[in-house]
Amino acid sequence: MALLFFTLTFQLLLLILRVSSESPLTTGGDVKNNFLESAKNPEVFDWMVRIRRKLHENPELGFEEFETSKLIRSELDLLGVKYRYPVAITGVIGYIGTGEPPFVALRADMDALLIQEAVEWEHKSKIPGKMHACGHDGHVTMLLGAAKMLQEHRHELQGTVVLIFQPAEEGLGGAKKMVEEGALKNVEAIFGIHLSNRIPFGKAATRAGPILAGAGSFEAVITGKGGHAAIPQHTIDPVIAASSIVLSLQQLVSREADPLDSNVVTVSMVQGGNALNVIPDSVTIGGTLRAFTGFTQLQQRIKEVITKQATVHRCNASVNLTPQGIEPYPPTVNNVDLYKQFKSVVRDLLGQEAVEEAAQVMGSEDFSFFAEAIPGHFTLLGMQDETKSYAMPHSPHFRINEDALPYGAAIHASMAVQYLKEKALKGSASATSFHDEL
Ligand SMILES: *[C@@H]1O[C@H](CO)[C@@H](O)[C@H](O)[C@H]1NC(C)=O
Ligand SMILES: [Zn+2]
Ligand SMILES: [Zn+2]
Repeated sequence: MALLFFTLTFQLLLLILRVSSESPLTTGGDVKNNFLESAKNPEVFDWMVRIRRKLHENPELGFEEFETSKLIRSELDLLGVKYRYPVAITGVIGYIGTGEPPFVALRADMDALLIQEAVEWEHKSKIPGKMHACGHDGHVTMLLGAAKMLQEHRHELQGTVVLIFQPAEEGLGGAKKMVEEGALKNVEAIFGIHLSNRIPFGKAATRAGPILAGAGSFEAVITGKGGHAAIPQHTIDPVIAASSIVLSLQQLVSREADPLDSNVVTVSMVQGGNALNVIPDSVTIGGTLRAFTGFTQLQQRIKEVITKQATVHRCNASVNLTPQGIEPYPPTVNNVDLYKQFKSVVRDLLGQEAVEEAAQVMGSEDFSFFAEAIPGHFTLLGMQDETKSYAMPHSPHFRINEDALPYGAAIHASMAVQYLKEKALKGSASATSFHDEL
């Protein structure tokens, strides 16, 4: 009798244990489907719009996002989300969930541009000459929106969501600095969203593999020996060397790159000499390169062609691949598994037609530094309305469609939840198979 009672109690205990260990998985699924509704709920939506407008009125340039960062931290404080600060000067990293692995990251960029806003509206930039003209005010807001919803469901998360608010996307490589300062420590995967006026509202556009080009610049000083234009034998002419270099650089794309790959090498600057009868001491040239594959090799070949062509003409050349502190950005490459997962989550969330195949774009993003370090996925989120009147990013007429904010927040939150959920399923599956082997 006692034994039977014991066995029953034990079985009951097992049953309770099993139920409690399984329930987070099932709630995980429900949570996901509620995120768009929650984000559209006036309580969340109006709060997001207020934040976005405040950010829009107070744009800050790369590595100067002090007030932006402060606003983010005060919102995280209000939500009760713990964070690390400063990372890469103004960056903030929030943590939601168990505090244990797996860690999955969501990323937003914080910086604005040196542009005078030309849109006349109530929440126009208050800072002369600076403007959120790439939608990063929206990106910060969408990530805070996701933070709010995830924090409400923190007890159901099967791991930790890492919220990365990074500085200086526009040219200065804030993401690179974030990576160097350990932002991705223990993180297994990262997701990024960019608002786009080229994509219909409520749709996402993405692709597997390279989606945005790697971008770099170069500047070279070609040194010879100046002198009289009519006595060339006593000079070493850097103008001839520079001319030969400019022409040789054209062959990198036409002769060395795969014709089916897209590459650009442009020499856009040539400076040297200021008299008709004087051969100058030196000539400075500079330009841009773009590539989806073989970016680093292309950079190296540019350097090689410049220095070796200079030698042919008895000149010396020094090549700078980060002129004016502009960081080269590697291509942004989407991980295939994350791409598949993204497609299925967004179709569940927004409908079967909601994911479009994105065309490759020659533009670039420093999200690539994250996606180079760990598996990453970057998507464009549509905000186009029927009027299709939204100006291009980096235009003084640029606007964002605030109705897209809940979509971004919901996609962020859903991706994080689903990633952790699938990770847990895989974990328990491999635990089972391990057990079976025993
Ligand atoms: C190139 O550099 C070498 C080694 O520093 C130097 O001896 C030479 O004079 C330089 N040539 C020119 C044209 O500046
Ligand atoms: Zn931009
Ligand atoms: Zn941008």
